[in-house]
Amino acid sequence: MGKIFVTRRIPSVGIDRLLAEHEVELWPGQDPPTRDCLIEKVRGCSGVLSMLSDKIDAEVMQAAGSTLRGIANFAVGYNNIDVAAAKDRNIQVGNTPGVLTSATADIAVGLILAAGRCFGPAIHNVERLEWRNWEPMMFLGQEFEGKTLGIVGMGRIGFAVAKRLHGGWGMRTLYTARNAKPDAESTLNAIRVELDDLLRQSDVVSLHCPLTPETRNLIGARELGLMKPNAILVNTARGEVIDQVALAQALLQGRIFAAGLDVTTPEPIDPNDPLRLQDNCLILPHIGSATEDARNQMATMAAENLIAAIDGKPMPFGVNQ
Ligand code: DGY
Repeated sequence: MGKIFVTRRIPSVGIDRLLAEHEVELWPGQDPPTRDCLIEKVRGCSGVLSMLSDKIDAEVMQAAGSTLRGIANFAVGYNNIDVAAAKDRNIQVGNTPGVLTSATADIAVGLILAAGRCFGPAIHNVERLEWRNWEPMMFLGQEFEGKTLGIVGMGRIGFAVAKRLHGGWGMRTLYTARNAKPDAESTLNAIRVELDDLLRQSDVVSLHCPLTPETRNLIGARELGLMKPNAILVNTARGEVIDQVALAQALLQGRIFAAGLDVTTPEPIDPNDPLRLQDNCLILPHIGSATEDARNQMATMAAENLIAAIDGKPMPFGVNQ
């Protein structure tokens, strides 16, 4: 029996699975454990079930000591974990791919529609009792039927977004990816282009790439300058993919129409971040995978990953074997 530290409350299906085989310490707080607390809690653990907001680096692994066999991230993204440092120590790292594709794609589509049709300022208008008349010129948004969609990162989630918008609104799809995606090309008529071309041609740009050194600040002032004035930029990937200062400027100056963000830097967003006050920027608190189905499956997968690693078997959803 190993000791497992779970850094946040997760659906009970995952905890029950772990408890059937191991000793589990569950962090009870609404807020994450502080860095010092995390370092204290992982001492002597065989497994850590971490969130995307927990920085799991060499120092944490060192603190856990030689008992640590696995780190299971409760997310598909794992940029919060130093995977190389884990590999050096023979610690397996796992994630939860596939089960949150649909949930996250739905949030991206929701943000496209909400940002493009001015839901944010329109809702505020009603809430603040400012709705006086039916106004021909109020909250004029964008249409999507037959327009061009740009998917940056045609992985599972990018594909699911393109499938919804190509099928539903008949959008022409452009995409960027490290490798060509024959499935997207044959089923969605998607065309692989360079990022600059995608930005110049797309009416909607939706970001789905992982956060890596290459994608950090991928969308900065230059890239925003290439976009159409009617364009909508949506990010359900990681906040750091966008240079937020440049985005705030572009939105303020009306260089693009609107943005919809499910992710920001930092999270939660700084109260003084100008994006918060921008009418044409809709921000959600990173709820891409927040459905009961997705979170239950994520909990089960993360538990299975840890159980396998502690048993000395390959994680079923491992990223560094
Ligand atoms: C992930 O899994 O990486 C998502 O961002 C969490 O919703």
